[in-house]
Amino acid sequence: MPRSIDRRSETISENSAKLTNSKPLMKQSSDITTFSDLFCGIGGFHYAANQLGLECVFACDIDQACREQYKHNFGFEPAADIKLVRAEEVPDHDVLFAGFSCQPFSIIGDRRGLDDRRGTLYHEILRIVSVKKPKALVLENVRQFSTNSNGRALNAVLVSLSNFGYSCQWKILNALDFGLPQKRERVIVVGLLRPGVMDLFQWPKPIPNYKPLADVLEQNPAQRHFASETIRKKRMSRHLPKTSPAIWHENKGGNVSSSPFSCVLRANASHNYLLVDGERRLTPREQLRLQGFPESFEVIGSDSQIRKQVGNAVPIPMIRSVVEGVLSAHSQIKMLPRFLHSRRKSTKRHLRGLMPYLS
Ligand SMILES: C[S@@+](CC[C@H](N)C(=O)[O-])C[C@H]1O[C@@H](n2cnc3c(N)ncnc32)[C@H](O)[C@@H]1O
Repeated sequence: MPRSIDRRSETISENSAKLTNSKPLMKQSSDITTFSDLFCGIGGFHYAANQLGLECVFACDIDQACREQYKHNFGFEPAADIKLVRAEEVPDHDVLFAGFSCQPFSIIGDRRGLDDRRGTLYHEILRIVSVKKPKALVLENVRQFSTNSNGRALNAVLVSLSNFGYSCQWKILNALDFGLPQKRERVIVVGLLRPGVMDLFQWPKPIPNYKPLADVLEQNPAQRHFASETIRKKRMSRHLPKTSPAIWHENKGGNVSSSPFSCVLRANASHNYLLVDGERRLTPREQLRLQGFPESFEVIGSDSQIRKQVGNAVPIPMIRSVVEGVLSAHSQIKMLPRFLHSRRKSTKRHLRGLMPYLS
């Protein structure tokens, strides 16, 4: 392992603990203590894992503004293009996180082996998993990832991970079910490095209430966040809101609707896609709150940069709940030999569930 990366990993957790100023909410007691943060963006996974007492040993993102934001908040600069990182250079870690960009998945081969997937970000994840073999992994992608090319992309991920010895499950989760006033549906894949143990993993249960929008909104947002009078008038002429505060959403067809929660924050949406009460755009702090980022997160960069970064990020409470499930499952795996006999049936059921992907 090159000394530069080795040295960096030693200091990462100390710096990050100092800078995030976030004492772990739960000091985890399992032998899962470290994580890598691939395609780290501005660190949604990092916060979620830190809050559970895990420490980051490696992060990477190709986007310079993201790397600066990450460095400012976690105290170390992530590596850049994952394609230039040799798997052997990545320090050993217990959990691998990757929220990778959605690509044209039709180019992902289905059953023709890893070579077909070369050049895709998904291939880069597999390359690192195959060498580092973390005990668990959590992947995140847009909802369409499960349907794209008739589900071939997701199937390809599950088959490859299964070939590497991982038991996997996937599910679509919504940030709205985890206390955030944002409708954000994402495919989450969870893998545990042991065949046939996936029944030990429980998906987190939805929380009945989400934070009121009023708790997210700033009192006196700067004037630059207000839409022009022309836009405001146009929106008002097309929509009669039932509630306030509300987030008004204009869809591609020009229809306007409003809800007491936000539609999904998107990295590349048009400037006025979401307007608070039809009047103004969300401030950077409000966007961060809608993703569950702590108030201690310090914003650097322009409004448009942060809009893109937050739109790409993961909802922290949702990911934290998933990681709690991973830690719990892993602690049970350690006791597995005692359960082996009684679990044989569910293991068979698990394998049957995988058959569509494996045949
Ligand atoms: C969906 S975002 C992940 C956001 C992150 N999970 C967060 O919470 O902020 C995907 C990220 O992958 C990064 N990315 C794209 N291609 C990359 C590459 N070749 N190497 C490293 N990062 C890359 C993008 O810059 C982007 O920040």
